[in-house]
Amino acid sequence: MMARAAEVFADAWGYGPAGTWSAPGRVNLIGEHTDYTGGLVLPFALEDRAHVTVAPRDDERIRLATPDAAIDLELAALGPGSPPGWAAYLAGAAWVLREAGHEIPGFDLALASEVPVGAGLSSSAALMSATLLALDDVHALGLDRAALAALGRRAENVVAGVPCGAMDHMASLCCTQGHALLLDTTTGATRQVPLDPAKDNLALLLLDTGHPHALADGRYAERRAAIDAANDEMALATLTPGDVGGLPESWTDDVRRAAAHVITENARVRAAVTLLDRGDLAGIGPLLDASHASLRDDLRVSSPELDAVTAAARGAGALGARMTGAGFGGSAIALVPGDCVDAVTRAASDAVARARIRQVMPSAGASRDG
Ligand code: GLA
Repeated sequence: MMARAAEVFADAWGYGPAGTWSAPGRVNLIGEHTDYTGGLVLPFALEDRAHVTVAPRDDERIRLATPDAAIDLELAALGPGSPPGWAAYLAGAAWVLREAGHEIPGFDLALASEVPVGAGLSSSAALMSATLLALDDVHALGLDRAALAALGRRAENVVAGVPCGAMDHMASLCCTQGHALLLDTTTGATRQVPLDPAKDNLALLLLDTGHPHALADGRYAERRAAIDAANDEMALATLTPGDVGGLPESWTDDVRRAAAHVITENARVRAAVTLLDRGDLAGIGPLLDASHASLRDDLRVSSPELDAVTAAARGAGALGARMTGAGFGGSAIALVPGDCVDAVTRAASDAVARARIRQVMPSAGASRDG
């Protein structure tokens, strides 16, 4: 795919780029809908990456090419909602760097991405992260990865109009091979937590339901609004499961349940990290199941297909399974004993006709590749 991006560049623009960069999609192991309230998340990077080849220009144009499309833009035309569609995740990188005071010129870019779109695997953050890393590099801006991730989130919020939290760009830029990234979204502190399923004869299976979700379609924003309403009154990240029974009676049932999800999910991330630090990956299975139940019953962001693949995986021997990402479709993750991989794969495929099941490994974050 890296070679494909270079080919697309040469075909579209007729000269050679300054370099090639890539950034991965992510799976969130646990810590869902917590990253916009100062909570904890524990994602890892996928092997699937978005590859960009980039050359800076000396004028104010941005030309973007993919294997299927090409777009020509002016820097001055970038802003909230502009450009629409996939180009926002590439051109938005230039907009946000300029907004932050980096007077960069335009660029030519070609993209080839392996990250499935609409599968809840942060394909958009992969595009944005690869492009930000490329622009930081070619203009020697010297921004660190956390700073690039914060810019990526802002560009996605403003240019693409998606009110996402801090997790996806941090995962794409800061994950390392063989680890999950523990991120505290209150302090920005991170820790690489070893995650090597093969060592314990376990596997992580990605259960892509084949039923896409769309982040910009309003349901994410609507669920987020319920959580924000609670968080505005009581900082949810500072509460513990013991506080759930005492949440204000004045809140609607919907807001109380949304808050209960966030509070208990943060506790589940803490418990999962404690187990992983002890080398007990198998022990996190029940936490994955409890996370799914909370997302399904309290926050209500699961889907019939996500419920079906996770139930089928559990029934066929998975130690735990949960939806991952925003929900409303997309993918789930299952922790599976090595000798149950085939049975779980079959059961999940039988449960949801369009499901695609594969094993995934915690992989490296964004890089310059050439
Ligand atoms: C989407 C958002 C993330 C996060 C998850 C839910 O992936 O982009 O910021 O909120 O949903 O955990």
